[in-house]
Amino acid sequence: MASSDTPKRYHVTTFGCQMNEHDSERMRGMLESLGYGAAETAEDADLILFNTCSIRESADSRFLAHLGHAKRMKKERPGVVVGVGGCWAQSVKDEVFARFPFVDVAFGPGQINKLAEFLTADSLSAQGYFEFEGFPAHLPTKRDRSFQAWVQIAVGCNLKCSYCIVPSTRGRESSRPFEQLLDEVRALAADGVREVTLLGQNVNAYGRDLRTTEPLPEALLAFSEAAKRPTAGTRPRTFAELLTAVAAVDGIERIRYTSPHPKDIREDVVAVHAALPEVCQHIHLPLQAGSSRILKRMRRTYDKQRYLDRVAMIREQCPDIAITTDIIVGFPGETEAEFEETLEVVDAVAFDGAFTFVFSPRRGTEAAELVDDFVPHPVKVERMERLVERVQHHARERTQRFVGRTLEVLIEGESRTDPDKLRGRTSHNKVVNFVGFGQPGETVPVQITGATSQTLSGEMSLLATLAG
Ligand code: 5AD
Ligand code: SF4
Repeated sequence: MASSDTPKRYHVTTFGCQMNEHDSERMRGMLESLGYGAAETAEDADLILFNTCSIRESADSRFLAHLGHAKRMKKERPGVVVGVGGCWAQSVKDEVFARFPFVDVAFGPGQINKLAEFLTADSLSAQGYFEFEGFPAHLPTKRDRSFQAWVQIAVGCNLKCSYCIVPSTRGRESSRPFEQLLDEVRALAADGVREVTLLGQNVNAYGRDLRTTEPLPEALLAFSEAAKRPTAGTRPRTFAELLTAVAAVDGIERIRYTSPHPKDIREDVVAVHAALPEVCQHIHLPLQAGSSRILKRMRRTYDKQRYLDRVAMIREQCPDIAITTDIIVGFPGETEAEFEETLEVVDAVAFDGAFTFVFSPRRGTEAAELVDDFVPHPVKVERMERLVERVQHHARERTQRFVGRTLEVLIEGESRTDPDKLRGRTSHNKVVNFVGFGQPGETVPVQITGATSQTLSGEMSLLATLAG
């Protein structure tokens, strides 16, 4: 452990989604600006932080095992400070201190400024910070990759999906000011960032709570009712105009975002995908279930047909775009026939990939109270196996369309399986392992020669005529 004249060292373990990864980057940036250095392992650190997730029970239990380890370290070195942030911390709030008395500080998602307040206070007595506060003031971030960055465009979620703990852990939806976001993207681009991923709980709700007097960009006018009938000379911002403005920032070559809600994916956003090469050829569109009755019980606000219509609208404007999804099996009361409707939608859409989850009851959510008499655990497992098999079948078929084409690949580093090859990603978010040369952050043309359900392989083509 560091003595009083050596800089203190921190260690952050992150669980959960990209939003949490990004919060952890900001924690690291904030800690380094306070003079802390990074420790290789928690054993070497003076400050041990966990940025937690609570989306499913498995996330809770994984984190609790780590917390047990921190308890032992605290026993051996009582001067160590243990901090717990993120969604799990928010979901149990002050109970943290009663259940885990060795925790010194606990704080909700994004409340990195509160962590700084705690660390710079005169006395380090146990503290919890759980008020929702919107956006923290600008914080430095410490990014893992110099050429890729996350940009948080909104906090919170106003939806009420009955299975989801997030609305209670991240508060009401609030969009970050448009100009502030563009300033951040410009600064990132000047710092060498080529790809940004815009983060929000429901990204296409972006801007509804903002007002501007600026006219909408010409290309988007046709899609906006609000722009045609502005109230008092102002109109809301839209996600499509944010994408358009970010794409216009010099140096930004790729824009991704996660996640949109199927009810809000509109023609303007899809038109932007079709028109702007910077906006990636990939949409992650969480389905959750194929049965309209289950979707209603999930409070998703769309039914099976409406989801399929959205997919058709996307494919009509962007025939080559990759569509991926999230699916939950074994929602309380899901019958065999209803599960088969999920398989039908999987077949009808032929997703490029899917994350699949077994329903996990979460404290305080509506679905946790629903009677679950139809779906014993072995049935859920068996449904999951059938679903995964079907998803992989389509993913494998879908990737074949790339074989023989030359695609632009953003190099991310060395291949994980073969050090003689490079690893990168296409606009469709497919990983490519390929023979070639170049530095991480460079975009190169790669001729695709093979494809599995997950990855592509190929060779860099020097005389490529990019077929896209
Ligand atoms: N049980 C299982 N899966 C869940 N998800 C969210 N909440 C639950 C839950 N209680 C899944 C959804 C969501 C993804 C991030 O996690 O599919 O889109
Ligand atoms: Fe992210 Fe949801 Fe986990 Fe929170 S609960 S960290 S929002 S995945």
